[in-house]
Amino acid sequence: MFSGIFKNLGMDLGTANTIIYAYDKGYIVNEPSVIAFKNGNSNGYKILSIGIEAKKMMGKTGREIKVIRPLADGVIADFAAGEALIKSFIKRANVPSFLLNRMIVGVPTGITSVEKKAIIDSALSAGARKVYLVYEPMAAAIGVGVDILGQHANMIVDIGGGTTDIAVINYGGIVVDNALRLASDEMNDAIIRYMKNTYYLDIGELTAEKIKIEHGIAYKDCDEKQFKVTGIDH
Ligand SMILES: Nc1ncnc2c1ncn2[C@@H]1O[C@H](COP(=O)(O)OP(=O)(O)OP(=O)(O)O)[C@@H](O)[C@H]1O
Ligand SMILES: [Mg+2]
Repeated sequence: MFSGIFKNLGMDLGTANTIIYAYDKGYIVNEPSVIAFKNGNSNGYKILSIGIEAKKMMGKTGREIKVIRPLADGVIADFAAGEALIKSFIKRANVPSFLLNRMIVGVPTGITSVEKKAIIDSALSAGARKVYLVYEPMAAAIGVGVDILGQHANMIVDIGGGTTDIAVINYGGIVVDNALRLASDEMNDAIIRYMKNTYYLDIGELTAEKIKIEHGIAYKDCDEKQFKVTGIDH
């Protein structure tokens, strides 16, 4: 009789961004996987902000405030912070934990059983009654309308913040996969290194990401562009 009021959520807990989808409401969270704490450690410390607001604080705070991304390479690296992030996002989605039923969470194909357990435990502690994991390339294939049940194999390449997940899918399953722990974050790091080595300029992660998105290009032969970059001379 009450089954209709229970919420089932889908979550893409990404290194860079977290997306939560509710069957009846659509996308309810789409924000950076960033959390800001007072006093450095996530255990028992006060959460100052999460998501967009926390990302704005990156690289701009003093020592008593820590702005962190609890996920690295597509999995939870800081368990307490990861759990706090999931709980806060679910709260933001306005789903009381007593109404939260099933959660389906996307995970990279290369995930270990310990890493799977960390994600399941975090979702359970956020209030979910049952937690299911789905490999991210499989979810991506379904999302873009690939016929995953057909005999013809399709290759999905998902370049995220922390992982590049590549999988070949047919007959409803993954035939081969490879999850490289090398993705968009490493492009940001390369830009930071380049600015330091070439222009002796220290730039933050946010500036590097902006340069990548606004000026990055995948073709080798392209016209040179000029733009201004702000950083600290060293
Ligand atoms: N137009 C763009 N050009 C280049 N990079 C982009 C662009 N838009 C977003 N990105 C980069 O994509 C990354 C985020 O991708 P996505 O949201 O798929 O990652 P994620 O799912 O959180 O990470 P993962 O799957 O590795 O855990 C960020 O590093 C961001 O800078
Ligand atoms: Mg992803």
